[in-house]
Amino acid sequence: PRTVRLAVIPGDGIGPEVVAEALKVLRAAVGDETRFEETHFSLGAGRFLETGDVLTDDDLAAVASHDAILLGAVGGVPGDPRLANANIERGLLLKLRFSLDHYVNLRPTVLHPGVESPLAAPGDVDFVVVREGTEGPYVGNGGAIRVGTPAEVANEVSVNTAFGVERVVRYAFAAASGRRKKLTLVHKTNVLVFAGGLWKRTVDAVAVEFPDVAVDYLHVDAATIFLVTDPARFDVIVTDNLFGDILTDLAGAISGGIGLAASGNINPDGRFPSMFEPVHGSAPDIAGKGIADPTAAILSVALLLDHLGLADDAERVRGAASDDIAGRDGSTRSTSEIGDAIAARLAPAAP
Ligand code: NAD
Ligand code: IPM
Ligand code: MN
Repeated sequence: PRTVRLAVIPGDGIGPEVVAEALKVLRAAVGDETRFEETHFSLGAGRFLETGDVLTDDDLAAVASHDAILLGAVGGVPGDPRLANANIERGLLLKLRFSLDHYVNLRPTVLHPGVESPLAAPGDVDFVVVREGTEGPYVGNGGAIRVGTPAEVANEVSVNTAFGVERVVRYAFAAASGRRKKLTLVHKTNVLVFAGGLWKRTVDAVAVEFPDVAVDYLHVDAATIFLVTDPARFDVIVTDNLFGDILTDLAGAISGGIGLAASGNINPDGRFPSMFEPVHGSAPDIAGKGIADPTAAILSVALLLDHLGLADDAERVRGAASDDIAGRDGSTRSTSEIGDAIAARLAPAAP
């Protein structure tokens, strides 16, 4: 049998709660041909409060030596004074995405049958956001002077490289080519002329190699309109790191809630392990109550299985989650009840 070495980072808040259910489903989904060997890492705000470490070089090397990563969510309780200078999000989550060259942040949005969207007429919602994952305003290219004075200046420069834009655009075209063959570039070329110009020219250049894909462009402000008024028009959206972050929370909201939104941080070259995680955060407001929806984490497991080439297992996980979602009647189930129910749909039938 094939052994997959999986690094598991449950994290903080509801992270460990939803990861426990995702692992339950993973174990139920895979056949005898694949064995998942899990290494659990204690990382996040909890670890920082215990040891003062966010992600040491040794931690990073250990995580990087695995075949793939499953992450719950990280982030402490807002306003906790002990975390004032920790910056877990940048020091852990973004450090992993950057160090492991996760240049594709893949965030599919499907309005599952039976799910009530807040939109009156959502139509057939099935699109994927290909969010650039290693550049943009996230890289930390900035600084501030005269902090705390009326003369303060704070800069956060968006970094966009020809290399970085081209590789993610190429990935997005290939994804569109395998789907409904429509690609929408979302940017703000009317104002961000330098970065926008690079993105637009890159899309136009790569489009020549994908004559089967229809290309469309929307300014990011207009894209938020269409995500609410006509989300069914989208197939693949390609966009930068920050626009992609914002659009995918909106995408989660229109498709039944952030508790259903899955994501993959992909290193398509396979040089580094890819990392799968729900789009949502550690949700301190509901942590410890056992009421978080684990479906986003479970659907992230499906993306993990896809990435590992286990497409049949991935499809079964998606099918089981989708069937469970379709049967939801508004009554409250606990996190583990939902996980158990989805895992049970995957269990082999009794002889
Ligand atoms: P959040 O996603 O944690 O929560 C937003 C809202 O959605 C909350 O009301 C929460 O209860 C609800 N929610 C989230 N996941 C849910 C689930 N599975 N089931 C039901 N309800 C759910 O976003 P936030 O409040 O902005 O951030 C909280 C912390 O998480 C912050 O520290 C933030 O930086 C961090 N964060 C981490 C990640 C990550 O680890 N990938 C992602 C986003 C935010
Ligand atoms: C996400 C989160 C992260 C991001 C934060 C926590 C760094 O919001 O995964 O969407 O902005 O990418
Ligand atoms: Mn986000």
